[in-house]
Amino acid sequence: MSEMVSIDFEQPVSFVPGGGAPACSTRNAWARVPAEPTRAERGVLKDRIRQLLREQQAVLVAHYYVHPDLQDLAEETGGLVADSLEMARFGRDHAARTLVVAGVRFMGETAKILSPDKRVLMPDLDATCSLDLGCPTEEFSAFCDQHPDRTVLVYANTSAAVKARADWMVTSGCALDVVRALTAQGKKILWAPDRHLGDYIRRETGADLLSWEGACIVHDEFKGLELELLKEQHPNAKVLVHPESPADVIALADAVGSTAGILSAAKNMDAREFIVATDTGLLHKLRTLNPGKTFIEAPTAGNGATCKSCAHCPWMAMNDLAGVVRVLETGANEVHVDPATGERARLPIARMLDFTAALKNGSSAVGIAPGIGVA
Ligand code: 13P
Ligand code: SF4
Repeated sequence: MSEMVSIDFEQPVSFVPGGGAPACSTRNAWARVPAEPTRAERGVLKDRIRQLLREQQAVLVAHYYVHPDLQDLAEETGGLVADSLEMARFGRDHAARTLVVAGVRFMGETAKILSPDKRVLMPDLDATCSLDLGCPTEEFSAFCDQHPDRTVLVYANTSAAVKARADWMVTSGCALDVVRALTAQGKKILWAPDRHLGDYIRRETGADLLSWEGACIVHDEFKGLELELLKEQHPNAKVLVHPESPADVIALADAVGSTAGILSAAKNMDAREFIVATDTGLLHKLRTLNPGKTFIEAPTAGNGATCKSCAHCPWMAMNDLAGVVRVLETGANEVHVDPATGERARLPIARMLDFTAALKNGSSAVGIAPGIGVA
């Protein structure tokens, strides 16, 4: 039996004539959170997944926010658990004929866009993201039309159609590097959809950046004041923050980064105790990779607040073992992206992958090739 949860998310509904940033209002969505299987059921489901993956030359690609069982199984079976940047790269480069993406819809769509000839399955196609929901294609396109002089940079957490309207796609793992490179070329940026990440990028890079006003329902709930109080109780703790969090939370951070960035900070920082402002799904990896260290959840709106305040994404929670078995057995929940949209959307994603690959290889010409970063 799954439990239905109702979720409010912010969605811009009006545009200021003359090109101001859109205003926000709240809309409602839902998620279907599956019940936890028993210990015995888990064992049976995991065995079945191992067998199906083998038989179908399939690979499981999971995000750090999904259930620990899926994260562990992905690694154990030769798949991957990672941030959204590495999930995209891995899916593209892997020889498997079928990718099972345990995450949210934009991750499945990105995998399909990069590998149109592979079959991409997801445990639940209704697993979405408030950033994607809060950035409808037509409104976003109108926003872009109002600012033809700006290079359009979108977050990975968007639909294929929104990506198709962009010059660049980035994840939080590479947003600063890409914007610094574009700014060095004198580009002005139009950014969507996360306003906190947009503000953070602007503060860090000094970019001329106009932002859409979306938010992540999970990270938007972290509270600076309560975090200050928690820090007083743990004076030696280092604070690790995902940049989708509000500015007053980021201001208290010892390290700001993507999920992978937070993992690397926890490993490398000389501290025994950490306060973590991101989805609680990451705690599984943080704790298994750092057995001697303590990880404390950063405070949210707290008691009496909505499902958003549990600091766990309700859409990531829609992924479960039974869902993986179901899609591998039946072929259901295949991700489809309109081929023309996919082809256009591949461009901004490929730019990001090429750029980050060059950065990783220490290329001195990390600058952006002529013709790239148009507008
Ligand atoms: P990462 O790119 O850091 O994995 O984040 C994806 C996401 O959805 C964060 O909420
Ligand atoms: Fe979207 Fe936030 Fe969920 Fe990530 S955690 S998928 S940004 S709603």
